[in-house]
Amino acid sequence: MIDYPPMKILLTDDQLREGIRRMADAIGKHYQHKPLTIVGVMIGSIVLLADLIRLLNLPLRVELVQARSYRNGTRPGPLVINTELLSTKVRGRHVLLVDDIFDTGRTLWELIPQIDELGPESVRTAVLLQKQGCCEVKMKPDFVAFDVPKGFVVGYGLDYNDQYRNLPHIALLEPQEMEETP
Ligand code: IMP
Ligand code: MG
Repeated sequence: MIDYPPMKILLTDDQLREGIRRMADAIGKHYQHKPLTIVGVMIGSIVLLADLIRLLNLPLRVELVQARSYRNGTRPGPLVINTELLSTKVRGRHVLLVDDIFDTGRTLWELIPQIDELGPESVRTAVLLQKQGCCEVKMKPDFVAFDVPKGFVVGYGLDYNDQYRNLPHIALLEPQEMEETP
């Protein structure tokens, strides 16, 4: 047991497994016979990335980019994107950007044109969670495992102040728990 305060569980590990399997099926059908490069958005996507790629029965490559919105606690701040980890070999390949959560949408919205500059055949997006009623951009993710209500969620890769990424489920962080987090 991990010694974190008790939190409301929104998605259990069983529910996550099932939802990710459904999303993997849809991704697999979409990319059959196409040269696919999965690009994980660090750090939040790493747990999803590890599970998702093992469910995809396709030849694929894996790459990483880093996006940090310098959040003040739970509020989004300026976004810094680092694509240096990404090889330029996505030309002619189909890119699937994988992130943990689509909140305002600004991260993926700003990442897509930067990937596009590298000349991929297509760029699509897949997220574990889509927060309802928060979108501030003119796009929606192409593949979504779960919709979640507004609120700050942690676990399965998602953090609050760099903590909770190792929870095997998705939990809702209540305001008082945010204050108490060291
Ligand atoms: P967006 O750019 O507003 O869509 O936010 C995307 C990024 O913000 C995600 O990749 C997460 O890293 C982070 N984020 C947004 N909402 C949450 C949340 O509820 N919990 C943890 N991280 C979040
Ligand atoms: Mg992120």
